[in-house]
Parts: sequence; C-alpha cells; structure tokens
Amino acid sequence: MLLDTYGRVATDLRVSLTDRCNLRCTYCMPEEGLQWLAKPELLTDDEIVRLVRIAVTELGITEVRFTGGEPLLRPGVVGIVERCAALEPRPQLSLTTNGIGLARTAEALRDAGLDRVNVSLDTLRPEVFQRLTRRKRHDDVIAGLRAARDAGLTPVKINSVLMRGLNDDEAPALLAWALENDYELRFIEQMPLDAQHGWQRANMVTAEEILRQLTAHFTLAPEESSVRGSAPAERWLVNGGPAKVGVIASVTRPFCRACDRTRLTADGQVRNCLFAREESDLRTALRSGEPDSRLAELWRAAMWGKKAGSGLDDPSFLQPQRPMSAIGG
Ligand code: GTP
Ligand code: 5AD
Ligand code: SF4
Repeated sequence: MLLDTYGRVATDLRVSLTDRCNLRCTYCMPEEGLQWLAKPELLTDDEIVRLVRIAVTELGITEVRFTGGEPLLRPGVVGIVERCAALEPRPQLSLTTNGIGLARTAEALRDAGLDRVNVSLDTLRPEVFQRLTRRKRHDDVIAGLRAARDAGLTPVKINSVLMRGLNDDEAPALLAWALENDYELRFIEQMPLDAQHGWQRANMVTAEEILRQLTAHFTLAPEESSVRGSAPAERWLVNGGPAKVGVIASVTRPFCRACDRTRLTADGQVRNCLFAREESDLRTALRSGEPDSRLAELWRAAMWGKKAGSGLDDPSFLQPQRPMSAIGG
C-alpha cells in the first residue's frame, strides 16, 4: 500500500511516457520547446512495464493513466498498454492526450486494452487554437476525439483551459458542443506549472467565473458529493442530466485532502505530488539490479514523504523545477 502520513492511500498511478510534445500551448511551454530528456535517460518499455507491475501487484495501484508531454509520441505506447492490460490484477487503463494522432491509434489502443481517454481541447475556433497551441492542428484533434468515441474509449473527457483574452468567453459554446457530441467536458484552472513561469493568479480564469458563464445558459445541479471520491473534477448535472460538466479548480478549490495519486516521470522518478519539489529516483535503483521488493520499498518511502497540500496558497510557494509537460500533468 502507498500510504502517507496524512492517512491518504495512493491507488492511482500517472505514468509519463515522454516529455516531448507536438504542440506548444502558451500556458505550458515556449515556442521553441524545451530541453527534452535524452533517450538513455528515458525508461525503456520493459522498465515501465516492470514498475507498473510492481505498483499493481505490490503497492495496491488499481488505475494507471498514461500521460506526457504527448504520450502518443512514444513509439511503444500500444505495446505498453497491452502489457499493462495483461497484468493481474488488471488495472483500469486510461490516457491523457492532446488528440493529435488519436484518429490513427484509437482502435489499436482499444484493442490493446485501453479503457478510456481524456483529450485536451481549449477552443472550437481553429484560429484561436493556432494562437494557443502555435500549431495548425485543430482538425486533427476533432478527428481524434471522434475516433476515440467511435472506438468506445468512453466516456471521452475533454480538458479545457481558459486563457484571459484568448478563449475566456468560450465556456458555454464548448459545453454546448460537448453535449451535442457526447463528450464530458471539464474546465481546468490554469496552474503555475508552465516552463516560462508566466502564471499570474490575477490573470487566471477561476472556477467561479466559469460557473457564472455557464449558468447564464444552462441549469447546473451539483453532483452528489459521495460520487466524487478522490476525483479532481467537481461535477454538475447539466439541464437535469445525465450529461455532466466538471471543473478542476486546483487553485481556488484544492482537493489535496482526498488525493489518491502517485506519479512516475518518463525518466523514472517518483513524484508524490504534482507540485512536489522532491523526487525519488527509481531508475538508478532499477538499473543497479535491485529486486522488486526494494523498488516497492523506495516507492512507499517516497509516498510517506507526501506533503499535506500543493502549497499554492503559501506566500513562499515555489514552482516545481520540472514543468507540467515533464511531470505528466
Ligand atoms: P479522470 O480520472 O478521467 O477524472 O482523470 P483526471 O482528470 O484525473 O486526469 P487528466 O489527465 O485528464 O487531468 C486533468 C487535469 O487534472 C490536469 O490539468 C491535471 O494536471 C490535473 N490533475 C491530475 N491529477 C492531479 C493532482 O493530483 N493534483 C492536481 N492539483 N491536479 C491534478
Ligand atoms: N494549468 C492547467 N492545466 C494545464 N494543462 C497543461 N498545462 C496546464 C497548466 N499550466 C492541461 C492540458 C491538459 C491537461 C493534462 O493539463 O491542457 O488538458
Ligand atoms: Fe503539449 Fe499538453 Fe503542454 Fe500543450 S499542454 S504543449 S499539449 S504537453
């Protein structure tokens, strides 16, 4: 079991498959990209599957989410999913992607055992998409979403970040479109995890503002609190349901007390929190031939050191050294 000193138990593992990305979202990284991890630093497919196996068989992990950067850029992604789906007990498997390449891979991912996907889409307007992501790929994302839904990788969830002056008026249109197309939309408050350190609280579009925009067009009723569990998204039934909309308000309504997550970076470091400033090096132990039991022990120790919260509200808050794209979100 992965327990911390506040009594939380991690059952949800997020594995970053690569720190690279084919978009350049302004809230994430600069136009020129970042200094990517070198190939020898990355865990191999075998190393990833071994660590996931340890997590599932010895540490009580029941859900595994593959993240990035952009996880579909990892050549072995389908094989990794397939091998993780063969583990006993079989974990729930999901993936968070920007949607590019999903149209081509959705069926293969489903056949390999992937259960569902979350796709980032911040705008319905191709020209705004291009300003936000610095790439002309809006059509690919829309096609990826459709392919995921048609392949049964459901519920397909959409993650949207609203940026002041760019798409901050788009919440109702995004929701109307998601309802029409049977996607579950969640809005995410922008977090101070960008590589450029440009985040400003005063500029952030808050959950309150998003909900105000939505209630001008839709009737929202809060979901039963017992349903939320440890999910980051708070959800509302739209126009009486069953459709729902979510808000992930890490900044203004933190949910750290219920956190059930542990993270593995593409270079084999365990992070006990998205905002952690320390990491635990599993890769060195793995490559020096340590047995499963020792790797499990290091992982447990890493989680025991998990802090109560993100520290976002502390005056002394410092961003983690790694940006979001290298942590895996
Ligand atoms: P579901 O299981 O489908 O609800 O997935 P999810 O919402 O947990 O995962 P996803 O990868 O789609 O992430 C959506 C947003 O939630 C991203 O901005 C993540 O960075 C954020 N998020 C995920 N886990 C955590 C966490 O432990 N803490 C905080 N603050 N944010 C998180
Ligand atoms: N703040 C909030 N969300 C972010 N994402 C990426 N960077 C940030 C940030 N700084 C979102 C992506 C994706 C999800 C995994 O996290 O848009 O949907
Ligand atoms: Fe890529 Fe995601 Fe960062 Fe956008 S937010 S640049 S899609 S890693």
